[in-house]
Amino acid sequence: MRKQGPLIIGHRGAAGHAPENTQASIRAAFDLNADWIEIDLRMCKDALIVVHDDTLDRTTNGNGPAANLNYAEIWPLDAGQGESIPTLETVLGLLPESAGINIELKEPQTLAPLVECLTRRDECAKRSVLVSSFDWALLDNLRVRMPAIDLAPLTKRRFTDAMTAANSLNAYAINASHKHLSRKHVTAAHAQQRRVFAYTANTPKEIAQMLDIGVDGIISDYPDRVRTTINAHANRHR
Ligand code: G3P
Ligand code: MG
Repeated sequence: MRKQGPLIIGHRGAAGHAPENTQASIRAAFDLNADWIEIDLRMCKDALIVVHDDTLDRTTNGNGPAANLNYAEIWPLDAGQGESIPTLETVLGLLPESAGINIELKEPQTLAPLVECLTRRDECAKRSVLVSSFDWALLDNLRVRMPAIDLAPLTKRRFTDAMTAANSLNAYAINASHKHLSRKHVTAAHAQQRRVFAYTANTPKEIAQMLDIGVDGIISDYPDRVRTTINAHANRHR
């Protein structure tokens, strides 16, 4: 049966259920019926790694910048419940066949290795791959190297500027904070053939608000809550 409603995108895997951006979190997202996952990408000395912060302090028992270490030094660190910080290759290898991925670029050093990785694996032919960033110039650079890649400028409260960037990037979507998103924004984006994905809607109320204004995807730490709220919403509007 075709699922109804917007895409359900697990934030950092399913960060509400398992340590963020780990293999356990990614498995949890798909166990909870997410359509896609969102992950954060950084570069250590010799590998693309899936981690949010530039330092290891908050999410692992290590410390300092990840950029100063080889992956062989990062892998043994505990990222919570005995999990490791995974490489991008590991995460791509974990995805179910029909699953999509939103890769958020956290730093410019990721660009060249990401192009190499996606090209070598022919990943965009296998699944939906959306690359997003708060650094819109970085997306511009990626567009030059991968003319057909799906892009999404990220914005917290600069939706109109993000629309302008999306048009110049020929972006697939605008990924915007649910806190500052209105129906007007979504209508304006749709008029320009851009989708809108809202982050990070976690409570049933936040999720229902995003359904009401017509977003195309909801990025959440709790993919299960998004599914439940979509179903309740569909029954109400039947
Ligand atoms: O990509 C959506 C969201 O993840 C952006 O913020 O800080 O959670 O990476 P952050
Ligand atoms: Mg992110």
